[in-house]
Amino acid sequence: MSTHNVWTHKGTFLLAAVGSAVGLGNLWRFPYLAGENGGGAFILVYALTIFAVGIPILIAEILLGRNSRRSPIMGMRFLTRTHSASRRWEVIGWLGGISAFLILSFYSVIAGWAIHYTWKMLTGSLTGASAETISAGFDALLASPARLTLYHTLFIIASGLIVGLGVHQGIERGLRVIMPALFVILLVVLAYGVANGDFPAAADFLLTFNIADLSLEGWLEAMGQSFFTLSLGMGAIMAYGAYMSGEVSLTRTAIAIAVVDTAVAIVAGLAIFSLVFGAGLDAAQGPGLMFVTLPLAFAEMPAGGLIGGIFFILVLGAAISSSISLIEPVAAYLVERFDLTRPQAVFAMAMATWALGLLTVISFNLWSEESVFHGLFGRSAFDLFELLTNIFMPLGGMLIALFAGWALTPSEVVKEMGTNGGWFTTWRFLVRFIAPAAVAFVFLRAIPQVGGYLLPAIGAVVIVGAFAAHRTLLTEAGQTH
Ligand code: PFF
Repeated sequence: MSTHNVWTHKGTFLLAAVGSAVGLGNLWRFPYLAGENGGGAFILVYALTIFAVGIPILIAEILLGRNSRRSPIMGMRFLTRTHSASRRWEVIGWLGGISAFLILSFYSVIAGWAIHYTWKMLTGSLTGASAETISAGFDALLASPARLTLYHTLFIIASGLIVGLGVHQGIERGLRVIMPALFVILLVVLAYGVANGDFPAAADFLLTFNIADLSLEGWLEAMGQSFFTLSLGMGAIMAYGAYMSGEVSLTRTAIAIAVVDTAVAIVAGLAIFSLVFGAGLDAAQGPGLMFVTLPLAFAEMPAGGLIGGIFFILVLGAAISSSISLIEPVAAYLVERFDLTRPQAVFAMAMATWALGLLTVISFNLWSEESVFHGLFGRSAFDLFELLTNIFMPLGGMLIALFAGWALTPSEVVKEMGTNGGWFTTWRFLVRFIAPAAVAFVFLRAIPQVGGYLLPAIGAVVIVGAFAAHRTLLTEAGQTH
């Protein structure tokens, strides 16, 4: 059974996809990664990956969703059938479902920290606080399983309620309120940063390119980040694409998503670093940048409590509009496959992720060092989930690119893309060869033990794999390209 939902307006897909893309990845992860990896050089690699790999895969993912008009798992089943391809490609849908669980489970815990800081800022309890107090406050938050669980629960309930209300009444209506508010708040925070912070230092830091600042690790981190920030390779975009009208241009929409997402990351970075440099603080703070350094900067500035509170509301809104896109593909699958009602499906997904999230909660305290988990996996649950996400998303993206590049017929792609000119040929080349090869490099990041000498080997395996996929598909489909 296909889901018959279609977005109410032509522009809604763009709104929803931007909502999914813009999130903690832009506001929390991007600035600290850029801060740790030399600023401008990191951004250059990040932007290049977004344009050379991200946009082609984005187009591929929307294409698969719109073509199948089903949730990712059922959609891939449908597409393998209609294209006489191996059913093994269904793994794309399953990988996406598993990634959604993993990401949402830790995403929600971190978004929960923003609930805490919204509260702290708006009540003025950090105004004028010293670095030690703020840093000790963050440590105390992480040390409390009860508080982390409370915030995690609140965040999951809020996201679940929106998706449970339905594609139109919940997701569309919610995004129409949240997204414009986010853009306004972002500009307010930027203006505040320019007025009270050191904007020239921030611009200098983020926009000066010195490639020598970037290590190999930084390169790979930039590529991994470009997948995470575009919500690529895990079915969220495919699920939203299933509701997209056939008339909307794929290419233009994909470019718009990438441009807006990148712009938000850079504007957020400029605002955050203006404040951080203005307060004379360190840019290379790592994950604590948003939750320790930034509150400290706000603590020292005029009306810092109010603007800081508004800033954390921005973080929360961006996180919610992303988390609903993590619930939707799995919930839609449960509705299609098991005939559950939407509220039942959302409840099942939310409960399961909530329970999994408890492992992330205790990785910051009870199980932060010695634990059964460390014994089994050599790292905390949070680190393991992040690592798995860094493997599954690029892997999903690679398979999506290969399937769209090799299994879909040129004529159907041309019809969807509305062009058979040079862009179609370029796109096809990118998804058949360049994107899969680039993704192989991203894997290196997830597997730090792998030495640089394996790079060419992995590239070769991917190219050979692509040819193998091509041959399998051809024999099974009896097509000629
Ligand atoms: N793109 C989101 C961010 O940058 O925060 C994270 C994300 C959302 C990843 C949805 C994957 C996804 F399906």
